[in-house]
Amino acid sequence: MNYLPPSLQKKLLERSNGQALRSIGKPIKGVDFSSNDYLGFTTSETIYKRASRLLNDKRIEVNGASGSRLLTGNHGLYQETEAFIAQVHKAEAALLFNSGYDANLGFLGCVPQRGDVILYDELSHASIRDGIAISHAKAYKFRHNSISDLERLIDLHKKEGTEVFVVTEAVFSMDGDCPDLVAMADMCQRSSALLIVDEAHAVGVIGNGLGSVQEYALEIAVFARIVTFGKALGCHGAAVLGSTILTDYLINFARSFIYTTALPPHSVATVQAAYEALASQSTEGKNSAIAQLQSNIILFRNLVEKKGLSGCFMPSESAIHSCLLPGNKKVKAAADTLQKAGFDVRPILSPTVPSGKERLRFCIHSFNSKEEMEEVLNLLATFAV
Ligand SMILES: Cc1ncc(COP(=O)(O)O)c(C=O)c1O
Repeated sequence: MNYLPPSLQKKLLERSNGQALRSIGKPIKGVDFSSNDYLGFTTSETIYKRASRLLNDKRIEVNGASGSRLLTGNHGLYQETEAFIAQVHKAEAALLFNSGYDANLGFLGCVPQRGDVILYDELSHASIRDGIAISHAKAYKFRHNSISDLERLIDLHKKEGTEVFVVTEAVFSMDGDCPDLVAMADMCQRSSALLIVDEAHAVGVIGNGLGSVQEYALEIAVFARIVTFGKALGCHGAAVLGSTILTDYLINFARSFIYTTALPPHSVATVQAAYEALASQSTEGKNSAIAQLQSNIILFRNLVEKKGLSGCFMPSESAIHSCLLPGNKKVKAAADTLQKAGFDVRPILSPTVPSGKERLRFCIHSFNSKEEMEEVLNLLATFAV
């Protein structure tokens, strides 16, 4: 049937008129300044071979999980991987989800209850917002990274019998900046609020690569962490880290865990192999991919300053560096210029970001060379300042 209701056609037209129509284009060839593959793990032969060996050793020769974890979809490998992830992250327990999106949806959809309150950063990722939308709890956003606004809201909403959940990201996916997690955890502890940290863009990047909560030794202070595997770990899936009783609860009530086919075993083997690679990074010292990524991040920042571009870049110490070029048309044209010159840099348009905050989003990787960073910023400087 070749029909779309007129109201939906109108929405598409509005997107198109606003230069904001999304489409799945051809893959862009060019120096990678846009993927989330911060450490190059996606193409790691070591991880690929190790995952194959894990499957061979366990004689797992299947193409799919065959069902939900609660029915036929569980394999010994899953619990082994969860135990390993929990140990690496110094958590009591880990529970695998099919993606970070599913983890946020499942967690936020079932943990905060009617009568509870969720306080979330105004720049929270869509998966956090969608999880909150499913929840029966009341939700209020606090100003981006503002501890004082968060404190005001906690004071306003904390009442006898009401649980207050605070949700933030260790590294914000569009701005690349970080909250003061130590201050936030301290405030949550003082006011008995429960802190949830999405570590999607912090794992593999911050500290020794295990995320911000571990970098600041806040494992005991946070209620739950969400770690995702599709970014620096270069594979697919996610886990909620927390207490055993919390994961027991999720197994019983998180709908995106219960009512879906489990990850295929080869995905889980890849997650385990990627975690082994991540955990072994600390023994590789300066040659580790994490150390190379961190030195590239510093180099990129220095080059931005040297080339007089600091005014348009948002402050960031993570792998995400956003150069504000307001207006969908303008930022699309800028990305096009960089792509034609051989750099894969993507525009982030409104409504993904607020109107007026459209930007080029540079993702820095362990494998980007100094020359590549110099060249892309030289070109950017010809039209961005
Ligand atoms: C902060 C944050 N949380 C969760 C997700 C979702 O993770 P996944 O890609 O595994 O669904 C993303 C990915 O875009 C993200 O940036």
